[in-house]
Amino acid sequence: MNAGILTGGGDCPGLNAVIRAVVKRGGQLGHTFVGIKDGWKGLIDNSLVELTKDAISGLLPRGGTILGTSRTNPFKKEGDLEKTLAGIKRLSLDCLVCIGGDDTLGVAAKLFDMGIATVGVPKTIDNDLSSTDFTFGFDTAVTIVTEALDRLHTTTEAHHRVMVVEVMGRHAGWIAVYGGLAGGADMILIPEEPFDVEEVAKVVRKRKGEGKNFSIIVAAEGAYPKEVGGVITKEKVLDAFGHVKLGGVGEFLAGEIEKRTGVETRYVVLGHLQRGGSPTAYDRVLATRYGVKAAELMHEKKFGRMAALQGNKIVDVPLKEAAGKAKTVDMEIYRIASVFFG
Ligand code: F6P
Repeated sequence: MNAGILTGGGDCPGLNAVIRAVVKRGGQLGHTFVGIKDGWKGLIDNSLVELTKDAISGLLPRGGTILGTSRTNPFKKEGDLEKTLAGIKRLSLDCLVCIGGDDTLGVAAKLFDMGIATVGVPKTIDNDLSSTDFTFGFDTAVTIVTEALDRLHTTTEAHHRVMVVEVMGRHAGWIAVYGGLAGGADMILIPEEPFDVEEVAKVVRKRKGEGKNFSIIVAAEGAYPKEVGGVITKEKVLDAFGHVKLGGVGEFLAGEIEKRTGVETRYVVLGHLQRGGSPTAYDRVLATRYGVKAAELMHEKKFGRMAALQGNKIVDVPLKEAAGKAKTVDMEIYRIASVFFG
């Protein structure tokens, strides 16, 4: 088979490890690959990357994606779907290996319904994709948040301040919960549980009353106060998949905490630091397992399916099942993290 590989949506540490594994295992099974540049955009624009043996050498620890990425949605703009289908035909692609999150895999599922052979690999640092226990990139993001919290602890304690740390997590607070738990946060705010600003202020006051003159509050970017009733955004512009640009909950909360408690409060937005750089060992292994599975799914002609982690096994699930439903935080983990609040 001659297959195309593309990476779509926000980048994620481990993307290159998946590409390497797909090409390596697929090559052993007798298949050839071409890289599609910048997600679905590359099929529309006909921009390609060669995926030879040499091209995949040294990829395992490399962050980003050698294929580039974009949030182009071929179903959005008139004419783009026709160009995408024409691209698949022109390149004589027998299969498309789509590495992405909900949006990219949603497109892969729709194309499969239209008769295009697709297989999926789940990617998102947010870990909010259904049908898989973990996505690669999440462990790296959590490790970065943990290291940041360790550093922020020392300066926050030295200055007797409150530090609000805003982390990624649009629909789900996985990074906030795991990172906050590992980094000893005094309170963690997630999109799943709208918070009460006064409750956060109470935690700060309580800690102060107990002689703990500093507090670390972790907030997922999608967390929002009950009284506001919706996510805090910087801009109202939507991307091609209809997402707003989040950001601002940290700043909002820091202002409210200082006003209500009188304790000097700073905020830090960890932002894209959480997505950059080399994947952790866990993510390299998970990405490689996903890549090998994707090549084998393709070889077995199990199209319309996605590699997934369930328990400690790599299995395959229908793409349709995975796309379209956000996997929200396991409240049992949140309960354990909350034992340490206040
Ligand atoms: O990949 C999802 C995500 O990490 C979200 O948590 C975040 O809102 C978004 O990406 C930001 O991505 P960008 O700024 O690259 O559009």
